[in-house]
Amino acid sequence: MKVSTILLSIACLVAQVAASNLNIHQIGKSRDARAHFRRNSTSGDAPSTHGLNFTINGQADYFAGTNIYWIGYLTDDADVDLVLDHLHESGLHILRIWGFSDVNSKPTDGKVYFQILQNGNATINTGSDGLQRLDYVVAAAEKRDIKLIINFVNNWSDYGGIDAYTTAFGGSSTSWYTSPTIQDVYQKYIKAVVSRYSQSSAIFAWELANEPRCRGCNISVIYNWAASTSAYIKSLDPKHMVAIGDEGFGLDVGADGSYPFTYAEGLDFAKNLAIDTIDFGTFHLYPSTWGVSNSFGDGWIAAHAKACAAAQKPCLMEEYGVKTEKCTIEGQWRQTALDTKGIGADLFWQYGDNLSTGNTPNDDYTIYRGTDDYKCLVTDNVANR
Ligand SMILES: *[C@@H]1O[C@H](CO)[C@@H](O)[C@H](O)[C@H]1NC(C)=O
Ligand SMILES: *[C@@H]1O[C@H](CO)[C@@H](O)[C@H](O)[C@H]1NC(C)=O
Ligand SMILES: *[C@@H]1O[C@H](CO)[C@@H](O)[C@H](O)[C@H]1NC(C)=O
Ligand SMILES: *[C@@H]1O[C@H](CO)[C@@H](O)[C@H](O)[C@H]1NC(C)=O
Ligand SMILES: *[C@@H]1O[C@H](CO)[C@@H](O)[C@H](O)[C@H]1NC(C)=O
Ligand SMILES: *[C@@H]1O[C@H](CO)[C@@H](O)[C@H](O)[C@H]1NC(C)=O
Repeated sequence: MKVSTILLSIACLVAQVAASNLNIHQIGKSRDARAHFRRNSTSGDAPSTHGLNFTINGQADYFAGTNIYWIGYLTDDADVDLVLDHLHESGLHILRIWGFSDVNSKPTDGKVYFQILQNGNATINTGSDGLQRLDYVVAAAEKRDIKLIINFVNNWSDYGGIDAYTTAFGGSSTSWYTSPTIQDVYQKYIKAVVSRYSQSSAIFAWELANEPRCRGCNISVIYNWAASTSAYIKSLDPKHMVAIGDEGFGLDVGADGSYPFTYAEGLDFAKNLAIDTIDFGTFHLYPSTWGVSNSFGDGWIAAHAKACAAAQKPCLMEEYGVKTEKCTIEGQWRQTALDTKGIGADLFWQYGDNLSTGNTPNDDYTIYRGTDDYKCLVTDNVANR
C-alpha cells in the first residue's frame, strides 16, 4: 500500500505535467467561458449541442463534471448546498443525478422515495420525502449554474429500478421495455418530473435510464423503446437535450472482439445514436467489471468518438472509474477524451464529500474532496483551467 502510494504520487506528477500542457491551449477559451457563466447565470439559453461540442450558456467548450446519484435522497438542505458549493468552486459544470427512487412499499424509516409501485398501482410522491427533495436540488443547482442530467429509471435494483416495476406489474427485466402497462407508468413518471423542471435553467439533459440493457434481446427492442421514449420527452419539452444513459455497448467501429463491443446486451450504439430525438451519445468505462484490462480504455474512447463524429453528435463519457491508481488511469482517459474529436465532456464516477451524516457512499470508485486523487483529477486539472 505504501509503495503504491509513492508510485501513485510520482505518476500524479507526471499526469499533472501532461495536464498542464493541455491547459495551455484550453485556458483562454475556458476563462472566457467562466466569465460568461457569471454574466449569464440566468440566461435563458438551454444547454445544447453545437456540432461535436456541447454548449452551456451559449458557450461551446469541453466540459468536465461528475456523478452524484444520492443527492436527491439527502434530507438536509444544508448538505445539498454544501455539495453544490463545492462543485461550483471546483469548476465541474455538469452533474448527473438519479431522478428516480422507486419502492414497492412505503418506507417506514423516513427514506426518500419518488414513486410507489404496488399491486398494479403507481403513485408519485410529491411530498417532503418525495419529489420536493429533487426540487431542492434543482433550485440549488440553478443558483450555482450547475447543469443537471436527470435520469428516470435504473436497470439495476438500486433505488428500485426495473425490478420495482416488474414486482408490481409483472414481467421480466427484458419484457419491461415492451410492456404497454409498464411503459405507460414509466411515461407518467417522466411527465411528472419533466413538467416540474422543464422551465429550469439547471437542466442539461434528460436521460431515459441508467445503463439500460436487454441481454439476448434483438437490438430493435431497446432501439424502439429509446425512439419512442425520447420522442415522448421531446413532445413534453422540446427545449432540452435527451440521451439514453447506456454504457455504449454494441459497436463494431474499431472492435477488438471483447465483450463490451458485442451486441450481447441488446444495444447497438450507432443505431441508437441515429435516433433523431437523441441528442448525444453516452458511454461508460469500467474495464475491471467488464473483464478487460485498463489499457482497453483508450480504444473504447476512440471508437465512440469515431461513431459520434460519424453521427455528427457529441459523445459524453458519462461514467468512468477504477478502484486503484485513479489519478494515473482516469487522468489518462480524460486526456484521451479531451484530445479526441467527438468527445464533448466527461463525468467521473463518483464524487465524494463529508456531510452532516458523515462521508458519502464509498463504492471504492469514490473520489473524495480533499484527497490526493481529488487534487489530481479535479483541483489541478479542472478548477484551474
Ligand atoms: C450574455 O453573453 C452574451 C455573449 O454571448 C452577451 O452579449 C450578453 O450581454 C450577456 N448577457 C448579460 C446579461 O450579460
Ligand atoms: C469544438 O471545440 C473544439 C475545441 O474544444 C474547437 O476546436 C472546435 O472549433 C469546436 N467546434 C465548434 C463547432 O464549435
Ligand atoms: C389499486 O387500485 C385499485 C383500483 O383503483 C384499488 O382498488 C386498489 O385498492 C389499489 N391498490 C393499492 C395497493 O393501492
Ligand atoms: C440489468 O440488465 C442485465 C442485462 O440485461 C440483466 O441481467 C439484469 O437483470 C438487469 N437488472 C435488473 C434489475 O433487471
Ligand atoms: C430483429 O428484429 C428485426 C425487426 O423486428 C428483424 O428484421 C430481424 O430479423 C431480427 N433479428 C434477429 C436476429 O432476430
Ligand atoms: C467528516 O467531518 C467530521 C466533522 O464534520 C469529522 O469529525 C470527520 O472526521 C470527517 N470524516 C472524515 C472521514 O474526514
